[in-house]
Amino acid sequence: FSHLNSERLKIVVTRDLGPDVMTILYSESAKYEIVLWPGKNACDRKWLLDNVRDALALIVLVTDRIDAEVLDAAGSQLKVVSTMSVGYEHISVPDLAKRNIRLGYTPDVLTDAVADISIMLALMAGRLAKETTLFVSEGNWPTYSWAPFAFCGSQISATPSSPKRTAGFLGFGRIAQATLRRLLGFGFTHCVYTSNPFSKPSPERDSELLSSFGAPLHSLKRVSLDELASESDVLFVLTPGGDETKGLINEAFLKKMKKTAVLVNSSRGTVVDSDALAKALKEGWIWGAGLDVIAGEPNVAGDHALVREPRCVVLPHIGSATVQTRLDMATLAVQNALAALNDQDMPASVNV
Ligand code: DGY
Repeated sequence: FSHLNSERLKIVVTRDLGPDVMTILYSESAKYEIVLWPGKNACDRKWLLDNVRDALALIVLVTDRIDAEVLDAAGSQLKVVSTMSVGYEHISVPDLAKRNIRLGYTPDVLTDAVADISIMLALMAGRLAKETTLFVSEGNWPTYSWAPFAFCGSQISATPSSPKRTAGFLGFGRIAQATLRRLLGFGFTHCVYTSNPFSKPSPERDSELLSSFGAPLHSLKRVSLDELASESDVLFVLTPGGDETKGLINEAFLKKMKKTAVLVNSSRGTVVDSDALAKALKEGWIWGAGLDVIAGEPNVAGDHALVREPRCVVLPHIGSATVQTRLDMATLAVQNALAALNDQDMPASVNV
């Protein structure tokens, strides 16, 4: 509901954050008018432009584009934009900076959930989860009896005949490192990564990082994109989206990958060229792919080439979707907004 007393300062919230978290906001309603998008789906742009006027705080999701138009519609009193996400490509940071508006986000609390799903996608893609579950659900199991080399996948973990396993990461932040930690339990011995193209290679940083992972990891190094493609047994895309990373995983990259390799994308769909990936899977340049995100989402129809592709597992952007993590994210988004409104340090903020 929204409170209509115009004396109070306005907080606009673009989606119902559930009873536990909305209670935190409503407990402030003596001071703040809470204006909540009433819909179940993504907040309507026109509603946002109409309602944001005079707001002091704006609590948003990845589905809301926050640009100059929205900020101008809000007016110069807007103090903070707080997003319930770790990624913030949907927010124009330069436009916030120009207007001195603070930005809150939700790192850390979702790291484990996204690392978990990245491992799940790697295993599913490697072990033919889509083809085999379809085989069973379509009633075909009775036509088949156990056979030595039927339904064989590409093994993610180390084996006696293949003891060297290399994890590759495009982007090597918190979630990538949490994913690597999990992979040590699968016998991974080597790690290659590339990160921000503008940051310089640092052997010192690499050796510090290597020792933080302990003895099971034999080597960790920052490499070129070409080396990342050719050395990875499993390649995890865990980099922010935006222009800098758009289409980095393209035909040229995919052609350099191992035929047994698996590609996992649990960050932003725009990093992977979908047409190139569909071709790579169809023509066997790589083994399989697990995607939690696709360019153009949520407009991904059932006949999308990657959705139809048996070697591609597609999830509808649910990396952080556990009950516990989403509650933590929503709580942190509200805490960030309230802290900024009280001119305090936000628990998690981006330097704009
Ligand atoms: C994020 O937080 O940026 C995710 O994409 C949503 O979980």
